[in-house]
Amino acid sequence: MKIVKTITALRSTLKNVQNIAFVPTMGNLHEGHLALVKRAKKNADFVVVSIFVNPLQFLPSEDFNQYPRSLEADCKLLRDLDVDLVFTPEEKDLFPVRQEIMLQLPAVANTLEGKFRPGFFQGVATIVLKFLNIIQPDMAVFGKKDYQQLHIIRLMVQQLNFPIKILDTEIIRAVDGLALSSRNQYLNGAERQEACHLYRVLNTIVSEITSGQHGFLLSEKKAVEYLSERGWGVDYVSIVNQQTLLPASTDDQKLAVLAAARIGTTRLIDNVEFTI
Ligand code: PAJ
Repeated sequence: MKIVKTITALRSTLKNVQNIAFVPTMGNLHEGHLALVKRAKKNADFVVVSIFVNPLQFLPSEDFNQYPRSLEADCKLLRDLDVDLVFTPEEKDLFPVRQEIMLQLPAVANTLEGKFRPGFFQGVATIVLKFLNIIQPDMAVFGKKDYQQLHIIRLMVQQLNFPIKILDTEIIRAVDGLALSSRNQYLNGAERQEACHLYRVLNTIVSEITSGQHGFLLSEKKAVEYLSERGWGVDYVSIVNQQTLLPASTDDQKLAVLAAARIGTTRLIDNVEFTI
């Protein structure tokens, strides 16, 4: 496994390489990330994983400095999975000048996560666009954990005519249901125990809707109340159409429920897809 730090070195390494799968990450890798890598390995001859904590997607008030960095352990995990190349660029190589050109995104980027983290998806889309230009992979792999991110990347690739296939992977969870996330390590013991209630409440919504017990709005409201009573600060619990991420209507069949909430100071997101 080659570890490459500069765009120049990366380009020269990839010069004659074909059928490349790219897995973008911010490092501090866990089984969720590794599922993406395994999917990439299955589908391509050469797998590139990037590890870069992208400053463009953090608000000034967010955890950019605190975000866990564990490059050595990450590389060991990736070596064990037989990854071909790890790209760990430095900020000054990716941003030799201030990144003034940013992608303008459709309205969906201002909903859900975008409403609570203004500019977040613009930062994500811009860095992913840069990586796609630098690496020029045949495919790129994203997790459904970041459901709206996956949606926006698909729109970007489609609308900007990238000849790239986007593959997705299911959410990898801990035994109690908590979706794995690098940010889970911010949780203290009590918060970690409480954290699985986010997934539980999403499943409650799914069973309420599929059994016809409640309508969308009532079910969302009850979930917010339940979490708030347990001490969570809820940003949103929203039932949406899987294809558009617009609020679900009664004609829709393929739905997803997406949520973001804070426990203590840690903000968690999760989602569940379902069909009615
Ligand atoms: P990061 O949070 O490191 O996630 C990298 C990829 O791993 C994303 O596609 C994410 O959806 C996936 N992932 C994380 N946890 C997962 C889980 N429990 N199950 C399945 N997949 C999971 O997402 C980012 O980084 C950044 O926004 C990035 C795309 C790298 C751009 O900076």
